[in-house]
Amino acid sequence: MAELTRVGIAGTGSYAPERVVPNSEFEKTLDTSHEWIVKRTGIHQRHFAAPDEATSHLSVVAAERALENAGVDAKDIDLIVVGTLTPDYPLPSTACLVQDRLGAKNAAAFDLAAACTGFVSAFSTGEAYIAAGRAKHALVIGAETLSRVIDNSDRTSCILFGDGAGAAVLSPLSECGQGEILETVQGADGSGYDFIHIPAGGSVKPASQETVEMREHAIKLRGREVYRFAVARMSELIERMLEGHDPEELGLLVPHQVNRRIIDAALDRLGMTAEKVVINIQEYANTSAATVPMALDEGLRAGRIEKGQLLVMVAFGAGLTWGACKVRW
Ligand code: UT7
Repeated sequence: MAELTRVGIAGTGSYAPERVVPNSEFEKTLDTSHEWIVKRTGIHQRHFAAPDEATSHLSVVAAERALENAGVDAKDIDLIVVGTLTPDYPLPSTACLVQDRLGAKNAAAFDLAAACTGFVSAFSTGEAYIAAGRAKHALVIGAETLSRVIDNSDRTSCILFGDGAGAAVLSPLSECGQGEILETVQGADGSGYDFIHIPAGGSVKPASQETVEMREHAIKLRGREVYRFAVARMSELIERMLEGHDPEELGLLVPHQVNRRIIDAALDRLGMTAEKVVINIQEYANTSAATVPMALDEGLRAGRIEKGQLLVMVAFGAGLTWGACKVRW
């Protein structure tokens, strides 16, 4: 077997739509309060896409920023993978729309359905393609317009989500010289498929007047079960990524922004503080596949990691799915 190519992170970019929606918006129509939402989730606000903005539009802005940051031309991208649960259309993929608008003429493009794990799965896929010599430069994206799939009458779920996009350009380490991907893991447990799901609009229950009336095109959550799963899986994944390393080697931890309490509880289990953790849920809420790349871009642009330190990303979500990546910056 040919030797695997070592892969690095050439650049990152992110984008949040302009419109900011504070918690107080929900107080107008629901029995909820800013105080409850902050105390139970850490969320203060979220960004919602404009009516004429879809997942592809958010993706393109994040991707352009990532390409510029990487110094890579769109025409040199061979692969585009978009992790999303809110594609522009059921058909075709959002990745194809992104490919066209970027002018990435030489790229293969497809979407990947792994919910909140979407970016980490896209990242692992891009890394594997480059490592195996099937692509040279991969553009991996996590992007969502969750505002289009929330049930505004359900206070237990609608307050949790926001819109946004994040992207990374992956390249051979010999070219980009930074952010070597050391390890990626992915997993799934489909027995928990209904912990977080959208019941209608697929082949089980195609769209009908009844499904619309029953709000079955919106996200349904079993919040407490997800909470328990999330704390356990997040701490296990962090532990796994740091196995065999001195804890001091960690420079930056980028977790899925699911709930501030879930992040704190996982850190607590591991006896870690939040000092090296990127937390921006207060501003963007849970943007599903976009949380990790948005937080990654924020952490890197703020210069929060030094050369040689470890960068760890962890995500989990509907499916159930989970994934993690370890990078030597
Ligand atoms: O990325 C995956 C998607 N994310 C998730 O699945 C979220 C994971 N779960 C969570 O983050 C938390 O479980 C929630 C934030 C959803 C809920 O927090 P909690 O501390 O687990 O609250 P709870 O479900 O135990 O509910 C406590 C109370 C309930 O009232 P009763 O039964 O005690 O009278 C809820 O009805 O809080 C009530 N409640 C609310 N009250 C005010 C639930 N949502 C709200 C709300 N405002 N928005």
